[in-house]
Amino acid sequence: MKKRIGIGTWSWGNKLFWNYKSANDDDLRETYNETLQRGFDLIDTADSYGTGKLQGRSESLIGKFLKETPSAQKKRIQVATKLAPYPWRIGEKGFNKPFFKSLERLNNKLDIVQLHWSTAKYNPWQELGLLNNLCDLKDQGFDFKIGLSNIGPQRLTKLINFLAKREKSLNSVQIQFSLLAPDLKKQYQVKKICEENNIDLFAYSPLSFGILCIDPDKEEKKENSFIRNALFENFKKPTYELRRCLKKIANQRSVSQAQVAINWCCYQGTIPLVGMRKKSQVIDVSNVFKWNLNKDEFTILQDISKNCLKKMPKNPFSSI
Ligand SMILES: NC(=O)c1ccc[n+]([C@@H]2O[C@H](COP(=O)([O-])OP(=O)(O)OC[C@H]3O[C@@H](n4cnc5c(N)ncnc54)[C@H](OP(=O)(O)O)[C@@H]3O)[C@@H](O)[C@H]2O)c1
Repeated sequence: MKKRIGIGTWSWGNKLFWNYKSANDDDLRETYNETLQRGFDLIDTADSYGTGKLQGRSESLIGKFLKETPSAQKKRIQVATKLAPYPWRIGEKGFNKPFFKSLERLNNKLDIVQLHWSTAKYNPWQELGLLNNLCDLKDQGFDFKIGLSNIGPQRLTKLINFLAKREKSLNSVQIQFSLLAPDLKKQYQVKKICEENNIDLFAYSPLSFGILCIDPDKEEKKENSFIRNALFENFKKPTYELRRCLKKIANQRSVSQAQVAINWCCYQGTIPLVGMRKKSQVIDVSNVFKWNLNKDEFTILQDISKNCLKKMPKNPFSSI
């Protein structure tokens, strides 16, 4: 199976967590151009990446960059967005307006439309209406694939059957999946269902927001947002052993810690969505295409990850 890696663009418009600044948009253009040169074939965004005055900024930037991309290159990549099932987006037409808005911002290149999170916990009917809405749009001739996100195994099985009744199949599921992801047992159940049904599994936050890239032996001070700084401080000590192990493997192979953490996702057949906003990160991550973890390395990482007491926060909307 061909190894695939997607580029995540949550930071291309999000201020609160990622400290987005429009002054750095040229870095993002460079990042985008470099991914096209280096074999990445999937871009993940969402209509909620950028809110308020920055509404849909990540999608708008991608749309702008797509406009500058030769059509042959454009054909080789998939653009995936996520539509948020906000409480006011209800009924079988609830996604019409946001779908057309995203399509416009993305300059008519929209290959996968994903439900950003499951509403099963608080309004199970809402997501059924919205999925019907996506099926209707496909029946009207809009050419995109359907994806889900933040979904648990029980609900996933229900929704696969629901879509089958509309003669539609599910293309992909994206869940938090990394060495520090919470509830990995549940994530492995989702993974099994995806494998049985030929559904792509996208691993989001594969670097645990960058925590897995922190050198265990150096004091680095980066200009992060307040929340991200606080998170890093909180996680440094409990993740020390795991980061030491990542660094050891990285040094033995002359690669980066980031590459090892991403290859842990690839080893298991998932498609990691790596958040990148600098050309240098794309160059580094593209080396993951050139090597694989071996079984011993994977087993050691699994053991240390299991014993790591602090895991990333759970997405509160993820269903059972
Ligand atoms: N469905 C959902 O609910 C959901 C939730 C979260 C994320 N996602 C998707 O998954 C994507 C990725 O997840 P994420 O953005 O949360 O975080 P991530 O991929 O775990 O971490 C991204 C951060 O890691 C650092 N990094 C990246 N490459 C690096 C390298 N080669 N060396 C050192 N550091 C590196 C960068 O931090 P600096 O730039 O600060 O150096 C980058 O911003 C998102 O962008 C989004 O598309 C989806």
